[in-house]
Amino acid sequence: MWPAACDLLNSGATTTIKHKYLFFEVFRQEITMKVVAFNGSPRRDGNTARLLAMVCTALEHEGVETEIVQVGGKSVHGCTACMKCKENLDQRCVLTGDSMNEWMEKMFAADGIIIGSPTYFADLTPETKALIDRAGFVASANGGLLHRKVGAAVVAVRRAGGLHVYDSINHLFGIAGMVTVGSSYWNLGFGLNPGEVDNDLEGRQTMENLGQNMAWLLKKIGE
Ligand SMILES: Cc1cc2nc3c(=O)[nH]c(=O)nc-3n(C[C@H](O)[C@H](O)[C@H](O)COP(=O)(O)O)c2cc1C
Repeated sequence: MWPAACDLLNSGATTTIKHKYLFFEVFRQEITMKVVAFNGSPRRDGNTARLLAMVCTALEHEGVETEIVQVGGKSVHGCTACMKCKENLDQRCVLTGDSMNEWMEKMFAADGIIIGSPTYFADLTPETKALIDRAGFVASANGGLLHRKVGAAVVAVRRAGGLHVYDSINHLFGIAGMVTVGSSYWNLGFGLNPGEVDNDLEGRQTMENLGQNMAWLLKKIGE
């Protein structure tokens, strides 16, 4: 129980006021933070998925609800620069032929966002880039829908170029006024074939620490 409430309960305040405080305390503790993690790899069960699962396991362990959303491999369109989101102001993109609006809704409703991508020619997958461009633009057009959410990038890489992917994802978090969370190393896991990131012990530790740090930060923000 937070100190102010303890003081109040021990004080001479009326029973009604004490009951009201108890109600709010119980209610406050039941609010669950939610993190949505987007997997930008076309390999649904590949290395990026495994890294995201490691972070989400650590988050769940700390009582944070998580959901992993499959983005890679889906047919998605990039931003067409039509600027309709700036006119419509309905928190949506006018392109409706893919799942982007559904993903955006999840993003805007979450307390924390993780974007994961494998490294493709030292860069993001096109699906991840489409998500960043369209969600980022709709969020900004509608007055900053990602403002002060907690964000983390997660990257799978065989050998090189992973930091560039990490940076690209963090560019969205930065311009959107989000709070980025770190770990004991940059959030990269090394592996080529699906499952090989499991052999990257430091990468695994990095993901676990990232989940713990993200949960800690979310709780602090929610206090
Ligand atoms: C088209 C393509 C391009 C790739 N480019 C790179 C690269 O630039 N650097 C690298 O280290 N690995 C590269 N890789 C390897 C993947 O990043 C690596 O296998 C990663 O673990 C895949 O993650 P996933 O299983 O989640 O798809 C590439 C793989 C593909 C299919």
